[in-house]
Amino acid sequence: MRRIGVVMNGVTGRMGYRQHLVRSVLAINEQGGLALSDGTRVRLDPILVGRSEAKLAEIAARHGLTDYTTDLDAALERAEVYFDAQVTQARVKSVLKAIEAGKHIYAEKPTAESVEEAVALAEAAAARGVKNGVVQDKLFLPGLLKLKRLIDGGFFGRILSVRGEFGYWVFEGDWQEAQRPSWNYRAEDGGGIILDMFPHWHYVLENLFGRVRSVYARAVTHIPARVDEQGVTYDATADDAAYGIFELEGGIVAQINSSWAVRVNRDELVEFQVDGTHGSAVAGLRNCRIQHRAGTPKPVWNPDLPVTARFRDDWQEVPDNAEFDNGFKIQWELFLRHVLEDAPFPYDFAAGARGVQLAELGLRSSAEGRRIEVTGL
Ligand SMILES: NC(=O)c1ccc[n+]([C@@H]2O[C@H](COP(=O)([O-])OP(=O)(O)OC[C@H]3O[C@@H](n4cnc5c(N)ncnc54)[C@H](O)[C@@H]3O)[C@@H](O)[C@H]2O)c1
Repeated sequence: MRRIGVVMNGVTGRMGYRQHLVRSVLAINEQGGLALSDGTRVRLDPILVGRSEAKLAEIAARHGLTDYTTDLDAALERAEVYFDAQVTQARVKSVLKAIEAGKHIYAEKPTAESVEEAVALAEAAAARGVKNGVVQDKLFLPGLLKLKRLIDGGFFGRILSVRGEFGYWVFEGDWQEAQRPSWNYRAEDGGGIILDMFPHWHYVLENLFGRVRSVYARAVTHIPARVDEQGVTYDATADDAAYGIFELEGGIVAQINSSWAVRVNRDELVEFQVDGTHGSAVAGLRNCRIQHRAGTPKPVWNPDLPVTARFRDDWQEVPDNAEFDNGFKIQWELFLRHVLEDAPFPYDFAAGARGVQLAELGLRSSAEGRRIEVTGL
């Protein structure tokens, strides 16, 4: 049995606590540690770091942990890995400090607010020779794993287009509490749906369909004022919806709507429809439905008659055929194997920087009202 110290910065936040501490790091320990290929098992010693000692103490007590501090430098001295799930704006400074200390780094997306900083992080990590990784959790969702299975099995023939629909109504905070932190709606605090979601769309598109060649996006702030955690009204300065068109290598056209100002009339909070010459699929977080060319109905446009066909009945559910673990945990295990036994891990800071680049170009496209080519970094 080996042990590895992991500094976890930002564990009082939504992602840091639930997905990374509880559902990943503690879950790995609960299953008896991480099994390496030589049979060694590795337990993780989380060192909780944050700004509020009281909040850290409370989380530590809840989970029987003892190591927590507000002193990042001291924490880094007793760890091999640094993990960051702070607000985006606080990320670069802390990650650079951990790189200087020679720690391997795993971080939430986006790795930075600008391409310049994201590239600087990738370069600093490479220069210091530390392993680095960025969270790309959506790739490990059951729905997207099924979609990948269909692509790998040649189900689609030639893929023509991808239609993504993401979003839900985020309450304004006046008569019902908002279900997301208020910094998400302030550009000056690192908020905005493009900076939040385009890094996700980037790695989904890149890993499933091909490199992104160009972007056209329209960013909008539909709800101009919201109420924060203290009940104070503030100006929402960041985009809360983005309507994007991405052209991929091989000629695939992907359209993805992202919105915190949309009411859900779908089966899941995100869905991707993929149309190919031989078949189509609609994948959500968990489920995936398909329609093969042989099972495709032939509708005829006639607005004079009521619709009698039940189009959704012509789709077939893709079976699980496997047990799906939590996607964040799967990626933690891959990253730790990368650190401990040099296993491959393609989701590095360079990939993170490409995600930030797509967000930056999306914002520029919207500001300038034009399509922008995505050039190699
Ligand atoms: N992978 C995903 O699906 C996913 C989903 C949501 C958010 N995220 C990313 O995770 C990060 C955190 O998002 P969240 O929704 O958990 O936010 P959150 O507001 O719930 O948590 C933010 C954390 O950062 C800390 N923090 C706040 N302000 C700070 C400051 N000025 N300096 C240092 N620390 C500060 C908070 O104490 C808290 O621990 C963001 O970068 C976001 O983009 C990823």
